[in-house]
Amino acid sequence: MCGIVGYVGSQKASTILLEGLKRLEYRGYDSAGLAVQQNGRLELARKVGRVENLVKEAAKHRFTGTTGICHTRWATHGGVTEANAHPHLSSDGKIALVHNGVIENYAAIKKFLLPKGYAFKSETDTEVLSNLIAYHYAKEPTIAGQSRFLESVRKALRHVEGTYGIAVLCLDCTGEIVAARKGSPLILGVGDKEYILASDVSALVSRTQNVVYLKDGEVVHVTPKQFFISTLDQEDVSPVVDQVTWTIDAAEMNGYAHFMEKEIFEQPAALENSMRGRFSEDGSTAKFGGLNLGPVDFRQIDRFVFLGCGTAWHSCLVAEHLIERFARVPVEVDYASEFRYRNAPLSGNPLFFVMSQSGETIDTLGALREAQRKGYKVLAVNNTVGSTIAREADGGIYQHVGPEIGVASTKAFTSQLLIGAMLALHVARMRDMSFADGVEFVSALKKAPDLVREALKQAGHIKAVAKRFSKYNDMLFLGRLSLFPIALEGALKLKEISYIHAEGYPAAEMKHGPIALINEQCPSVFFAPQGEIFNKVVSSMQEVKARKGLVIAIITEGCELPPGLADEVITIPDCHEAVLPIVATIPVQLLSYYIACERGCDVDKPRNLAKSVTVE
Ligand code: AGP
Repeated sequence: MCGIVGYVGSQKASTILLEGLKRLEYRGYDSAGLAVQQNGRLELARKVGRVENLVKEAAKHRFTGTTGICHTRWATHGGVTEANAHPHLSSDGKIALVHNGVIENYAAIKKFLLPKGYAFKSETDTEVLSNLIAYHYAKEPTIAGQSRFLESVRKALRHVEGTYGIAVLCLDCTGEIVAARKGSPLILGVGDKEYILASDVSALVSRTQNVVYLKDGEVVHVTPKQFFISTLDQEDVSPVVDQVTWTIDAAEMNGYAHFMEKEIFEQPAALENSMRGRFSEDGSTAKFGGLNLGPVDFRQIDRFVFLGCGTAWHSCLVAEHLIERFARVPVEVDYASEFRYRNAPLSGNPLFFVMSQSGETIDTLGALREAQRKGYKVLAVNNTVGSTIAREADGGIYQHVGPEIGVASTKAFTSQLLIGAMLALHVARMRDMSFADGVEFVSALKKAPDLVREALKQAGHIKAVAKRFSKYNDMLFLGRLSLFPIALEGALKLKEISYIHAEGYPAAEMKHGPIALINEQCPSVFFAPQGEIFNKVVSSMQEVKARKGLVIAIITEGCELPPGLADEVITIPDCHEAVLPIVATIPVQLLSYYIACERGCDVDKPRNLAKSVTVE
């Protein structure tokens, strides 16, 4: 997915645009560009690579204009080239446009425009839209009281199939931007005699905390003095100005080497924020303000369905384990991307949950809409206030962990695990869990931040383990029950930031195939906590050791491994089973982070990835 920033005001637009773009770079970083209105021209600068390359290029242009748009790209249609970088200028030079999303019928539109003399210089779907707007602009008569520019954007968008978040400049309309969204986020910051458009709040919060979250199908027309929101069908929309609850400091690195490192070490505080105010007065259960479902409705629920993508899907798997373990209610989990198309037979009275840090993942949004289309309530566990998923869900639970900038999710994941455990408690106390057991459960959850602080103290040791294992190109992660999803998460973390091929498996699955991979070049990370299956996991470790495989064991305090079985041991505090997945996640986050650092990888902006995938 891509990042968009637009500015209308009295300051030098290029400075504000580039500052905003740096804060959006985690959304996509293949190429970047900006367009500024000045001297009767639309002045463009575009560069392949990071925003830093664009900053250097922009310095060669004498940008002075006070209205502009910019973009950082995650390629969908067309390779990573300067010609494919946004903004895209229409061939008549009238329209400059940046776009986040996919125009699915771009080929048909291109076929319509070519005979009308419109030329194309890129392989992108986006350029088609800039020419289509230019076509309508050229055709649009000047209607009294109606902006020709605004009307040409509306007309063009009515022909578009797919998703878009766009910001558009018109050569003839100085100091104006038209922006619109359908399926890709767009926020309008209302500043002091200035307006800033952005794909997310982090690009504008340093200049204003007053924001309007545009909704799908809305178009905003920004001029130096005011803004108007309407629909594609010309219906006026009364804007709702919200207040952003965090400051730009939350999006700063604050002395850490990477945002990922900062966010790993922020987790104790993040967990405290996710819990704050969410336990009952008698301390025996969890309570949530935004479920929009009372105890009677909850009692009728006969099962839960959890949907998510990537790391969020892993948190769904842990929620499944804890809700079934403690509340004894059946839970189904599905990849959001699979659920939305496989037309699963649905019956009874399920309650759907979607897990999504960004609240903009298009597959998760699609799954939410699919479940709602079938008449089911969908609640969202989400970390981004005002996001599309937050607004379209029937209720939900905000994670309150602050912006997560690192592409690899860390604090948002453990927050989702905590909220899943709180949900298990909430439901269990409506069923068979006793008051005393509820009090014990609450007490265990309240210890989570300190247990994570304890686990983080292993960072130095884990850094040394990472140094020893950073040269391998394959790695297995093995866990059982609620730690099998943590094995999946550990493998995903390592894959996405160090580019090492890693797989997560239930430990007992080793002997059904994966053990064929074991040799001196394929180390295995085992989760071996105290408990009923400890000895079973030890047996799996011995099967690996017997085949010369190296073993990294993550154990809880008090565990005794047979001498010489593990090549490295990482010890985490013993804890209540509802909190164990959270605490067990810390070592694999640190292991992947330090291995990626050892390999010189770009930890916060891994190749080919983006923070929130808003395209299918
Ligand atoms: C997590 O490390 C990944 N970057 C990715 O799998 C992510 O969890 C997934 O894209 C879902 O994102 P969301 O939580 O914002 O919906």
